[in-house]
Amino acid sequence: MWRFSLSAGYRGFVCRIVGPKGLWGSRVVHTCSAPAIPAGRITALQAVDLWKKHFAERGVMEPDHSSLYIIAHLLGAKTIESLGQENLSEFLSPEKTEQMWKLCSRRLSRMPVQYVIEEWDFRDLTLKMRPPVFIPRPETEELVELVLTDLEMKPGSGIGADGQHTCLEVGCGSGAISLSLLKSLPQLKVTALDQSQDAVDLTRENALGLQDRLQVHRLDVMKDAETLLSLCRHVSTLVSNPPYLFSEDMTTLEPEIFLFEDHAALDGGKDGLKVIKQILTLAPQILSNHGRVYLEVDPRHPPLIQQWVEVNVEEMRYVETRHDITGRPRFCILRKETSTEYHKLDLD
Ligand SMILES: C[S@@+](CC[C@H](N)C(=O)[O-])C[C@H]1O[C@@H](n2cnc3c(N)ncnc32)[C@H](O)[C@@H]1O
Repeated sequence: MWRFSLSAGYRGFVCRIVGPKGLWGSRVVHTCSAPAIPAGRITALQAVDLWKKHFAERGVMEPDHSSLYIIAHLLGAKTIESLGQENLSEFLSPEKTEQMWKLCSRRLSRMPVQYVIEEWDFRDLTLKMRPPVFIPRPETEELVELVLTDLEMKPGSGIGADGQHTCLEVGCGSGAISLSLLKSLPQLKVTALDQSQDAVDLTRENALGLQDRLQVHRLDVMKDAETLLSLCRHVSTLVSNPPYLFSEDMTTLEPEIFLFEDHAALDGGKDGLKVIKQILTLAPQILSNHGRVYLEVDPRHPPLIQQWVEVNVEEMRYVETRHDITGRPRFCILRKETSTEYHKLDLD
């Protein structure tokens, strides 16, 4: 089951999340009973302890980290450790106290801390976060690393005649993957698409300084295949962290995920493969020869994808499965090969 987990000292986390649209304004902040503020004023350190305790009592996951991140954010920092002892021992102003109350009440309503503080780090980027756009997870940092390593090691694979690296990302969310690739590869051009206007808007907002090499489109890969093919041809890399949960697993999600993130970012249909199959069906028309597809998937998916591609997509060859840091098979790599090359490989 996808968990919600924050890691200390470094702002990245280990989960998948979802939520109905438009929560920010309406349903987001439930009225929750909050702790009694001690009479008089309160210091930042006292606030951290107070909210840790209260989050724990109210069953909020990761109470310590939630409190630490929110109070650090309140004081304009990323982590409590980066604030001097002096700042932490000062009394909070009435304005800060009121703001603290507002932010912590949101967390009490089970809003993910990333939405509460409205930003999160992904590799070397700090991205704006807004519900219901999917919050990037740490395993996706591994997917980016995998693509970068491959592109650096195999500089010839799938590159266009002009020597230009081009990439298509299906389902860009906040822009985490596309923007990380653009930041690390100054020669890269990326087309990013998402079915959600919220995601497209957030990717554009997060693209500061990288927008010259990025095109973002609101497109549904299931419905707008023709438009996609008219925009994207001869691409060297196709990357996606698509919705891949099995529909039946949606009911087991943590409240943080279920209530706040876009279900369309998570639910991959009965077998979790709905969007993945469409991406792989279109891939031969999108990729240049030897161009590669990199997918983040559920650990049950790699053998299913391999079998399905062998039967259904003539010009795609399954290259390999890679494991994440916890040893689970999470990433699939496929390559476009013309049928003649494919048969030649079989004979060799
Ligand atoms: C798991 S999220 C990944 C977001 C981002 N790439 C990341 O890793 O943080 C999947 C994304 O795919 C988008 N998506 C889902 N179905 C889609 C479709 N049919 N066409 C285009 N995008 C889709 C969702 O809106 C969501 O932003």
